[in-house]
Amino acid sequence: MSTTPLIDQAISVLRHNDTGIFTKPGPHQYPHQWNWDSALIALGLSHFDLPRAQTEIRALLSGQWRDGMVPSVVYHSAPSDYFPTPAFWQIENSSAAPDIPTTGITQPPLLATVVRMIDDRHSVPDFVREVYPALLRWHRWLHTDRDADGSALACIIHPWESGTDDSPRWLRLFEAIHPEALPEFQRGDTRHVAATERPNRAEYERFIYLIDLFRKRNYEPSELLKHSPFLAQDVLFNAILFRADEDLRALAKSLGEPTDEIDGWLDRVRINFNTRFWDERVGLYYDYDVREKESILVNTASTFLPLFAGLASREQAQRLIDEHLLNPGEYAVGGDVHHWVTTTAKNELTWEARRYWRGPVWVIMNWFIMEGLRRYGYDDLAEIIRQDTLGLIEGAGFREYYDPRNGSGCGSTEFSWSAALTLELAMNFFDGEATFH
Ligand code: GLC
Repeated sequence: MSTTPLIDQAISVLRHNDTGIFTKPGPHQYPHQWNWDSALIALGLSHFDLPRAQTEIRALLSGQWRDGMVPSVVYHSAPSDYFPTPAFWQIENSSAAPDIPTTGITQPPLLATVVRMIDDRHSVPDFVREVYPALLRWHRWLHTDRDADGSALACIIHPWESGTDDSPRWLRLFEAIHPEALPEFQRGDTRHVAATERPNRAEYERFIYLIDLFRKRNYEPSELLKHSPFLAQDVLFNAILFRADEDLRALAKSLGEPTDEIDGWLDRVRINFNTRFWDERVGLYYDYDVREKESILVNTASTFLPLFAGLASREQAQRLIDEHLLNPGEYAVGGDVHHWVTTTAKNELTWEARRYWRGPVWVIMNWFIMEGLRRYGYDDLAEIIRQDTLGLIEGAGFREYYDPRNGSGCGSTEFSWSAALTLELAMNFFDGEATFH
């Protein structure tokens, strides 16, 4: 496949969604700056406009709270029909930066990894020096203000923090939550995208109910750890954090900064991650419900994220791949299903082909999985997924997600991270060796 036209189109999607200082994840559905979207967008931009990539990262960090949290969305001043509106979050009495409208929750911390990738490729020591303190403060906040049990594993308090909003792994936690008085609200997400491709009403009400609880407590982290009815240790979030800690450590080294604090987090998470999440009987990583003190026995593609982080042993990696990724009943492509990689195992009862994180293929998940496979030396399988992903984009455009049965597009059109990762997959994918030892 010639990738040149795809590269040109990817660049034009990123240019089209560019507001000057930040890039919208999608032109209509997502008109503000999202945290992990922005990290990937910066990675994409770095292929053709390095200064603009740096602006993207600065704009995201401008929303950092005084306690260190980097919020899931920085609204900037872009007017929009997006809900929740900036006013809905009521962050005035929190530790939010003055006069910068943001949400009151965070998202998976991918940024340090992206900064390291950009620095490795383009050598930007001054930029690293500029952003390093903010990254360190964010990671410190995650390992302390979000540590519920001294494990250094970070908790999430809202499904939106997982980046995989209506993943079926949150359903059981939601069953225990009964929204009493809901604030008045009007969903905006089904204005531009079919309701059948978006979260169900029951989940959406719980999303809003949780925000209402948090704003009543002014987003005080210790209060939220104590009182949020939703409290989970998420495999995906913690795998991304561990990888980002390693990358933060490399940045610290390059600057001659001390690494003891980061080493402490890495040591504790290295020990606690597998004890907490790995299920030896089935060979899967399961998320953990901190309130109920039990594993969440739902098989989703986030089980492969420890490969991205280098947290799985060789044996664990082999089991994840042989028993699950290559299992036609779960993830493997075959029979009626034609595209890598469904976000939820096909044999989960909650699997749905077109609904958001219930089953569709997402380019970001494919990228994590490919990076993980390469890290462990499964280059051939990574290459098959890469070809398939580029084929999906070529066939249906830069969509937010894709129906795994036939590759048709779902959700937002002209989706920025699908474009940014196209640049990664087409231009940068094969310049490294396996790095897991
Ligand atoms: C959705 C996704 C989230 C993403 C956001 C903007 O909320 O679940 O991961 O960051 O859209 O693209």
